[in-house]
Amino acid sequence: MTASHDVLLIGGGGAGLRAAIAVAETNPELSVAVVSKVYPMRSHTVSAEGGAAGVIADDDTLDEHAYDTISGSDWLCDQDAVEAFVQEAPEELLRLEHWGCPWSREPDGRVAVRPFGGMKNMRTWFAADKTGFHMLHTLFQTSLKYDGVRRYDEWFVTKLLVDDGRVHGVVAVELMSGRIEAITAKTVILCTGGCGRVFPFTTNANIKTGDGMSLAYRAGAPLKDMEFVQYHPTGLPFTGILITEAARAEGGWLLNKDGYRYLQDYDLGKPDPHPVLRSMELGPRDRLSQAFEHEVEKGRTTDTPYGPIVHLDLRHLGAKVIDTKLPFVRELCLQYQNIDPVQELVPVRPVVHYMMGGVHTDIDGATPLGGLYAAGEVACVSINGANRLGSNSLPECLVFGARAGRAAAQYAAEAGEPPSAVQAQAEDERRRLERTLADRAGGGERISTIRSEMQQVMEDSAGIYRSQDSLAKGADQLAQLQERFRVADLDDRSRTFNTELTAMLELQAMLDVAETMVQSALRREESRGAHQRTDFPARDDARFLAHSLVHRNPDGSCRVEYLPVTMTRWPPGERVYGR
Ligand code: FUM
Repeated sequence: MTASHDVLLIGGGGAGLRAAIAVAETNPELSVAVVSKVYPMRSHTVSAEGGAAGVIADDDTLDEHAYDTISGSDWLCDQDAVEAFVQEAPEELLRLEHWGCPWSREPDGRVAVRPFGGMKNMRTWFAADKTGFHMLHTLFQTSLKYDGVRRYDEWFVTKLLVDDGRVHGVVAVELMSGRIEAITAKTVILCTGGCGRVFPFTTNANIKTGDGMSLAYRAGAPLKDMEFVQYHPTGLPFTGILITEAARAEGGWLLNKDGYRYLQDYDLGKPDPHPVLRSMELGPRDRLSQAFEHEVEKGRTTDTPYGPIVHLDLRHLGAKVIDTKLPFVRELCLQYQNIDPVQELVPVRPVVHYMMGGVHTDIDGATPLGGLYAAGEVACVSINGANRLGSNSLPECLVFGARAGRAAAQYAAEAGEPPSAVQAQAEDERRRLERTLADRAGGGERISTIRSEMQQVMEDSAGIYRSQDSLAKGADQLAQLQERFRVADLDDRSRTFNTELTAMLELQAMLDVAETMVQSALRREESRGAHQRTDFPARDDARFLAHSLVHRNPDGSCRVEYLPVTMTRWPPGERVYGR
């Protein structure tokens, strides 16, 4: 049996649910499917902590939000997309308020905002430090109002069905039963999030394995700016769990092993007892993570079994501030590190947090493939360029989820029925999956071995600092891992919740994505934002003020091309912080 819908969303997190609501509101006649490998409330949006940026204070302006975002991106974002984003972000955040999101408030009732890294003004809305949890609940409960939205919870999409350059649906496995089904649709929106699990230390949930990026790439859509990987400066060392930037926004300090606020040595301003915007601990994430690496080189960090660390000091904030503004930070430190930040220093290190790159889209989420849209972290619109500012990603999910939903609804209303050719493709994919389950005989390697090696290769070759040598070595190692993956073992042949099969499908996606990251990083011979080449330490606007686009060749290899950046009002300049 083949189910059929007008619009099919892959992913049930912030962008996916916002897009589903936008489709239902644009055209209530349309049938909408939300296909997600996890129950929507387990999407990674739930773990977002610090907040969502949108201009609301009297002394803030849209132009200042745009400038912070553009300079933060090291001028690699598209300025038309940023202008639309800063304009629509406050409207979206207010809409969420009307749908029930409990934003934290000032005593006089106004929405409270906090400072965030690299931002000139206070514009980050928050719900204590559980912002993503509250936003996702709000979106989920709102989506339930629409009869046209049907959910496929715990279905894993393995392929996009494409005919003549247009996408017509997907093949997916129902994880509970192992049933393999085609679900056709007039249009598909990818909202599957990022791919932090390609690296060993990440704030990302296990589910963030680049599935949507790989689906699009294999179907013929290019991936954009994949060399730009964001490290968040403060993750817990063993688990990678995020200690939100809000901890520094509320006044936390970063100390090296000598108890020294080392950021003052890296053009990020002078220490002040109170948080100073765009300065010290409120500098942008790329600069803070790079400063950590220099502290390691100078021998000023503390060694632990999980690598070198520095400390986050929140003790001077006191229990009242921590319990009101940062209750989740305290809970996470107690539960996962056995440390109480009210009395003790918190060990932290940079951990992979966010992918600036993703599926190439225009400002309405449309990819170059007809009928395929993307929004949220899986997409590269691009508003983040070479470095995203903290708290821009939650509103990005809302603004561009809504835009993609509206555009897809319009496309679906005009599109014809899926051609019969896609049924044959779906049958091929079903047979491929059946063969995977039947033929992967014993004697090969385990998925987890290949995955761990891939993660280490990525950290060693494409971490905070890279070079021609490290990346070329990484590319060779990844090619070998691809070969080993082709004959890897699948011991579990059962149908019900076969997590080994899921891990295999996810690893295939991660290997695709890892290759595109390394290949685009190899070709970008400059340093910009989060892409720092030790052999090309300067930004090179003459050659590289351009997006990279990685295409998949028919033989499976990649091809990197470049696309000009869209500039509107802000010519490239120097990134200056701390003054
Ligand atoms: O630190 C944080 O709360 C992360 C926010 C973000 O990545 O936008």
